[in-house]
Amino acid sequence: MKTVGVFDSGVGGLSVLRALLAELPGVRFVYVADSAWAPYGERTVAEITDRSERITAWLRRTHHIDALVVACNTATALAIDSLRAAHPDLPIVGVEPALKPAAAMSHTRHIGVLATRGTLNSERFARLRTQLENTASSPVNFICQPCDGLADAIERDDLPAQQALCERYVAALREDAPGDMDTVVLGCTHYPFAADALAQLLGPDVALVDTGEAVARRTRDVLKPVESGLAAVAPELLSTGDPAALSLAASRWLGLQTQAGKLVA
Ligand code: DGL
Repeated sequence: MKTVGVFDSGVGGLSVLRALLAELPGVRFVYVADSAWAPYGERTVAEITDRSERITAWLRRTHHIDALVVACNTATALAIDSLRAAHPDLPIVGVEPALKPAAAMSHTRHIGVLATRGTLNSERFARLRTQLENTASSPVNFICQPCDGLADAIERDDLPAQQALCERYVAALREDAPGDMDTVVLGCTHYPFAADALAQLLGPDVALVDTGEAVARRTRDVLKPVESGLAAVAPELLSTGDPAALSLAASRWLGLQTQAGKLVA
């Protein structure tokens, strides 16, 4: 049986774990929520690189993982190159805002992108955006909105704060869009857990796009061959912050009854 490590700054990567569990039932997943260090979105590159390296080293040492999924757009944007350089023998799958699928779907060609400041300011994101602006079949306009505080409000399970921040950022997107947006990219793995509030504010004509399923398919390709017909295995959940908060989020969003453990890394 293959073992895959998955990590995020906190509970957000559970949106990716949900897709991984559906796509790869015979794989053992070990999920690390770095909640003691969340949110990553406003941290420095050095801090995020250091946290990503510590968690990866711990997963390799203790679980001998066959692959790693960086279930965090911010850590992918800022730390995946150095992780790959430090672990050339480990397949590493990252998460990037779904600009390409959004560009393929959008009719109005005005696409909102919600993500952390760290992701939107990164060179990796700038490259992705420029590449699509130059190669999309017809001109496309990305309206990028940093959502300071939103991942943190989801992390703290603070619904009034989530609602207020979603209202603020949807209003800002609308103000900046030169035409009707028909697609909004959820460029942070926490945001699918605020999708209901966002969908309500954006209305039925706007499609929300996230990357969970694409990342799960990519992980399947990387792990090949994966034995089929194996029974589903409950993932192991670990948090550097409060394990009870991770257990609660996993139960509410994924229906998992697994008790999370405490990780010091
Ligand atoms: N969930 C992460 C992401 O996809 C990070 C959010 C944060 O910690 O700021 O970007």
